[in-house]
Amino acid sequence: MDVRNLAGKTALVTGAASGIGQQSALAFGRRGADLVICDIDEAGLAETEKELQGLGRQVQSRRVDVADRDAMQAFANDIHQHVDSIDLLMNNAGVALGGRFLDTSLEDWDWILGINLRGVIHGCHFFVPKMKEAGRGGHVVNVSSAAGYLPASVLSAYGTTKYAVLGLSESLSIELAPHGIGVTALCPGIIDTPITRSARLRGELDSADMRTEMVSRYGKRGYGPERVATNLLKAIQKNRTVAPISPEAWLGYGFKRLAPGLVRWLAARGERNAMESIGS
Ligand SMILES: NC(=O)c1ccc[n+]([C@@H]2O[C@H](COP(=O)([O-])OP(=O)(O)OC[C@H]3O[C@@H](n4cnc5c(N)ncnc54)[C@H](O)[C@@H]3O)[C@@H](O)[C@H]2O)c1
Repeated sequence: MDVRNLAGKTALVTGAASGIGQQSALAFGRRGADLVICDIDEAGLAETEKELQGLGRQVQSRRVDVADRDAMQAFANDIHQHVDSIDLLMNNAGVALGGRFLDTSLEDWDWILGINLRGVIHGCHFFVPKMKEAGRGGHVVNVSSAAGYLPASVLSAYGTTKYAVLGLSESLSIELAPHGIGVTALCPGIIDTPITRSARLRGELDSADMRTEMVSRYGKRGYGPERVATNLLKAIQKNRTVAPISPEAWLGYGFKRLAPGLVRWLAARGERNAMESIGS
């Protein structure tokens, strides 16, 4: 999809109240797109809406839980009353969970699978058919992660959702290519957003010190969501199916392709160090 000028196009971003979703919505707006945005955080959503209106864009803003199938169906019905189809669909809403498999409850699994995986499936299920029907082509961005191709014992459930989103996106890109619809799995890297404060932490990770350390590590890394949005535009322009964004995401992607055994060895070494440092 040519994203150099999005005037006359409609972009939809889920989880647009904060972080990568908010900055991507603004980046699409700056290129001329009108926006449909949703989130469960109404205050953040109102901020994004105001900024987009300041750019002179039309905005449809709705409180929608992406994990709720009926709510997503109603959202799609509602939006398709206003536009025949979305041109650029970004399934971004997501949550994080730090914890090993043996520390992850089934309730946690339901929660993270519902938002990170079913939320993406719902977005594709309810919006892609009209994109195909409209016959104008377009683009779908599904937000995965570097944890969608790199193993980490402490990201067992989160990584599962992100590997799945990557897999879905690769298959969907083949299915939708004949209709001129590109698909990108966005794999950002370590990005400084409020997700570090809202992430659920489990097992020995569940401590105030660990939270502080994580927030500080992401802050020090200093790679903000606005840089992700800028690089996402380039990835869409190039129709990349898998789009690592930050340097560490690219590095991990390269190693995973060229030396998967090394990636596994490094992940296991990281695990041993972590276990030693917590005295297990
Ligand atoms: N920050 C990172 O380092 C990083 C790295 C890789 C991938 N990601 C992914 O990027 C995406 C955006 O994360 P972010 O870092 O910008 O975090 P964020 O917390 O700033 O933004 C996530 C947004 O999703 C919304 N959301 C959560 N549950 C929702 C639901 N059920 N329905 C609708 N909206 C919901 C939140 O309210 C929030 O506004 C997520 O999918 C995340 O997994 C983030």
